[in-house]
Order: sequence, then C-alpha cells, then structure tokens
Amino acid sequence: MTKVLVATDKPFAAIAVKGIREVVEGAGYELALLEKYTDKSQLLDAVKDANAVIIRSDIIDAPVLDAAKELKIVVRAGAGYDNVDLAAATAHNVCVMNTPGQNSNAVAELVFGMLVYAVRNFYNGTSGTELMGKKLGILAYGNVGRNVARIAKGFGMDVYAYDAFCPADVIEKDGVKAVASTADLFKTCQIVSLHIPATAETKGSINFELMSSMPKGAIVVNTARKEVIDEAGLAKMMEERPDFKYITDIKPAIDADLTAKYPDRYFGTPKKMGAQTAEANINAGIAAAKQIVDFLQNGNEKFRVNK
Ligand code: 3PG
Repeated sequence: MTKVLVATDKPFAAIAVKGIREVVEGAGYELALLEKYTDKSQLLDAVKDANAVIIRSDIIDAPVLDAAKELKIVVRAGAGYDNVDLAAATAHNVCVMNTPGQNSNAVAELVFGMLVYAVRNFYNGTSGTELMGKKLGILAYGNVGRNVARIAKGFGMDVYAYDAFCPADVIEKDGVKAVASTADLFKTCQIVSLHIPATAETKGSINFELMSSMPKGAIVVNTARKEVIDEAGLAKMMEERPDFKYITDIKPAIDADLTAKYPDRYFGTPKKMGAQTAEANINAGIAAAKQIVDFLQNGNEKFRVNK
C-alpha cells in the first residue's frame, strides 16, 4: 500500500493531522506519523518504506534520500524549502514541492504581535510608541509580505516595499510605496520586516551597513530565516545604536549573548512560531496531502520546486 509519512519535528495541530489523514486515507493510502523526533536516525528509519513525505522545517538531505528507497515526492508544508537538498532530490528522482501562501497570514500576524511588543518596550511598564504613522518597510513582497502590508494599513502605517522580483506597479496597486532597492528601504523606514528566503544571494545580506542606515528608533523584525542576517553586523548594530531593536522568530547563534546584554532591545521567540496556528497547519498540511494525491494519481507537478 502507498505510504505517506508526516515527519514533523514541530508537530502540526491535531486537527490538521486529522485533515491530512482524511485526505490520505480517502485516497486509499496509509498514513504514518513521526513527530517530535529527537534523533536523525528516527527519520532515516521512518522514511525507509515511505512513498511520500510531508515535512515542515525538517532536513531532507542526501542521507535521508539515500534511506528513502521508495520515495517519489516530498512536500514541504510551508513556503521556504531551504531545508531540502533540491539537487540531491533531483538526483534521486524525487519531486519536491512547497505549499505557497498557505501559512502566510499566520506569519504576518506574528509580525504585528512582535512589533506591538517591541514598540511598547516589551511591556516593561514604560511609555512606548504606536505603530500608526510609522514607516514600515517590507523586504520581499511575496505571500507573507502582502499580508503584512494589508495588516499594516489597518494599523495606519505608512507602508513601503522592495522586491527584486516583483514590479513596482504590482506593489503600488496595493497602496504600498515601491522603493528602488533594499538600501532605499532601510534608509527610508524606521521599521523593516524581512520576508526574503535564505538563498546563496540573501544569506548574510542584512548587514551593518543596511541596518545602520535606518532612521532613529529603528526596528528590524525577522520572521524569515536566521541565515539572512549578518550576525557580526547585528552584534555591532546592537552595540553602536542604543535606539535599535531586533525582534525575531528565528534565534541567531548569538541569541544568549544578545539576551544577556540587551534584554530591553532584543527578543527571540522560544521556538519558531510564525506558522504555528491551527489555521496555518490545516491549510498547509491539507494542501500538502492533496498535492501528494494529485501527483501520485495524476502526475500534477504544479508546485514542484526542483526541476
Ligand atoms: C515557512 O517557510 O513556511 C515558514 O517558515 C514556516 O516554517 P515551519 O513550518 O517550520 O513553522
């Protein structure tokens, strides 16, 4: 029988697993679950007889693909697929997909949860500021960036965006001001929200030069990937700009140091929380299950990310 494995170190909400099970079993397949695994050997063992795998930020690398002799498809229930070795998957003749847009509202809402926390001085009782009227810069205008823009307008913010792959007129149709470069975005906006993927081009790209060009009272909020930050540059910025706050859903390697030195200007969620809502889990998890069924039954490769 065709076996679909859900391998999630960070489990989906139970209601999402129920929905995934209904789709998988409804297609006549078997569902296996590997949640909160503590050792890679458990994943290597679980993938052995799986024909399809649904993952989140779980690492799918060459050793996993080597162990998964029956594997045809991996679906990353979510947007970013930097955790999957695409070249190795292609070499193993495994199709890799993501589920774009399915968890983006959840991530966008967390941006504002963290921003209110930051501008109210981490709820320490002192007078903070408001978001209304502040310039918000959105770096990358994809599914999350668009949701951030929509919510920001509700807060009465002055919204700017830059996306190397999205034309200015598309951005401006949403009532968002398009700027010409990442550098312009940082120079213009007191608050910048990052929504770029971790790629060879973006890794370490958010550096001291960019951050130090931000206006006074600057805040960078990162719900994207920790790799996009130049951590030495971040450390320097925290040290040299006492007005600067960094709030993140993905802790940098220097988390303990920043927490100790700047408890009133640095905050990292204990675990990556952006997509941790029942709605996002249901949307992304069930989309992943449906994509697997459609691929195995009809060969539909619409959301394939490895060519
Ligand atoms: C994504 O790329 O979809 C988000 O970063 C969510 O990741 P997660 O599924 O590991 O929470």
